[in-house]
Amino acid sequence: MKASLLLAACLLVTTGIAHAEDPGMTLAAQNACLTCHDIQQKKIGPPFHAVAERYRNDPQAFDKLLYKVQHGGAGNWGNYPMPPNPQANPDDLKALVKWVLAQ
Ligand code: HEC
Repeated sequence: MKASLLLAACLLVTTGIAHAEDPGMTLAAQNACLTCHDIQQKKIGPPFHAVAERYRNDPQAFDKLLYKVQHGGAGNWGNYPMPPNPQANPDDLKALVKWVLAQ
């Protein structure tokens, strides 16, 4: 079930119509996350499915990642830092972190 959903999500992403279908994807696009992130492929930042994988068993993942997305940070995936997003709506960022962890 989960796998087929994931597969469907990948197909949507590769066909480029995910923006209309997935609210998380829309938020990610609106907040420019997709400039540096992709679901499956490494861009400037780590792919979101790898982030979800890494934090799958970490009960503090949500808080840590929310902090990171709001305030920026570096050193977990490489030397390139993620810039802070102080202008972004905190509710949007919460929804985004939940969405990233579900990839
Ligand atoms: C300018 C490029 C850039 C943008 C824009 C960007 N990121 Fe990142 N992101 C990065 C980089 C680089 C890293 C890896 C940082 C590190 O090594 O700790 C990262 C890491 C992450 C992580 C994992 C953090 C960790 O500690 O493991 C999450 C989650 C994340 N980004 C989400 C987002 C979200 C959500 C947005 C949109 C609001 C966003 N990013 C926008 C470059 C970016």
